Amino acid sequence: MIFLVGFMGSGKSTVATKLSERMALPLLEMDDEIEKLEAKSIKEIFANEGEEFFRQKETELLQSIKVDAVVSTGGGVVEREQNREALSIGKVIYLQASFETIIQRLSNDKTRPLWAGNEQEKKQKFERRQELYEGVADVVIEVDEKTPEEITEEIMHRLNG
Ligand code: S3P
Repeated sequence: MIFLVGFMGSGKSTVATKLSERMALPLLEMDDEIEKLEAKSIKEIFANEGEEFFRQKETELLQSIKVDAVVSTGGGVVEREQNREALSIGKVIYLQASFETIIQRLSNDKTRPLWAGNEQEKKQKFERRQELYEGVADVVIEVDEKTPEEITEEIMHRLNG
């Protein structure tokens, strides 16, 4: 099992798609699965049911994954200790982007309920999570100014090397 972790906007979904093709493994995009299960968008789930409800669904989904796959996680998956433990059954790849890159990529984003607040609040969340991602990661890949293809190659190399 391969888990891609990292902050919102770090490129997990795009890279997971490429990596799953390269590794000939199924792709599991956790946010998409939760949206399908709930028949609502992430934004609607947060607005109607709240973050705790979403986090519970995220934990249940994570614990239910049985088939070997490339799993693209949501940026907040590391918030819960039990999720951090669940991730340890696989290889965890942390896509590490700088705060500047995240700010640029998410500047027009309207879909992410937790990309909110002023810049200082966003930076605090980013920095706090950085430690959590590092704590669970088997492999850390810097992604700034790299293409998804380059990042995928680097992951393949690091996993096989
Ligand atoms: C979240 C990140 C989102 C999604 C939800 C919460 C977070 O996933 O799971 O909006 O807490 O950082 P992405 O990292 O794919 O944006």
